[in-house]
Amino acid sequence: MKHLLEIRDLTDGQIMQLLDRAEYLKKNNHRIPTSIANKFVANLFFEPSTRTRFSFEVAEKRLGAHVLNFNEASSSSVKGETVYDTLKTLEAMGVEGAVIRTSENHLLKKIAPGMGLSLINAGAGTREHPTQCLLDLFTIRERFGQIRDVTIGIIGDITHSRVVGSHMYALPLLGAKLMVAGAPGMLERPDDPLPPKVEINSIDEIIAEADVVMMLRIQHERHLERFSMSVEEYHQMYGLTKERAQKMKANGIIMHPAPFNRCVEIDGDLVETEQSVIFQQVTNGVYTRMAVLEEVMVGGAKHA
Ligand code: CP
Repeated sequence: MKHLLEIRDLTDGQIMQLLDRAEYLKKNNHRIPTSIANKFVANLFFEPSTRTRFSFEVAEKRLGAHVLNFNEASSSSVKGETVYDTLKTLEAMGVEGAVIRTSENHLLKKIAPGMGLSLINAGAGTREHPTQCLLDLFTIRERFGQIRDVTIGIIGDITHSRVVGSHMYALPLLGAKLMVAGAPGMLERPDDPLPPKVEINSIDEIIAEADVVMMLRIQHERHLERFSMSVEEYHQMYGLTKERAQKMKANGIIMHPAPFNRCVEIDGDLVETEQSVIFQQVTNGVYTRMAVLEEVMVGGAKHA
């Protein structure tokens, strides 16, 4: 794998190999390989990020890479330089890997064929967020011992979620069941429709049936019209309230890719309960991203 552009490009075997490597790295945290030591990796975020950006930086530094962080506002992007030309410029300096977040759904696919350096998608528009998907899969497997036959319910702004865009392919491919629910106007994915295997349900059906309840925030920044419902109304009708959490399966878990908005899509007190693995997802993100960096930059564990 030279790049990681979209989860839908991967086979089930490739996904499981990355999860296995991430598991090894987590278990052997005390002796992390410096497999990409002294290679230069650049992080280019054209949309805001906390988790993904720092998680990649931690992963890169743990693997011994030299890390370059790009700041759009002080770069030549403001003079009209394209992302393609920016990357070719970095490549000409000897940078071998680039982690990119963009608001454009198809940008990475378009520019990848001309690239000598390895590209990793750190979130592209409303289409895919493959490393978030991988760390979620890792967390599900860690908790249930498998992904096959696990039922995952994703509730929230399905329309604008690149996390859904990745999971709607990965979960059915790995034998899991994916159910989704959301407020009216937040279910349709006009540019990237839900595959037939994904079920649309009510929130309370998901609460009763799912092993994993994954909540999503409303992506106000991508809504063209102002959302008319009050925060309290939304929380009661579509949020994970304490009452709903009590109706979850006894061994059910709460996930959220974050950032979360306490008391909007999730009751603030549920974030840090026993049921919640939200911060475990963040921890697992580092190991998962280390596995991805090794794979695209040096061909995986066999060369690590
Ligand atoms: N989950 C996620 O992508 O978070 P950030 O936007 O903070 O990177």
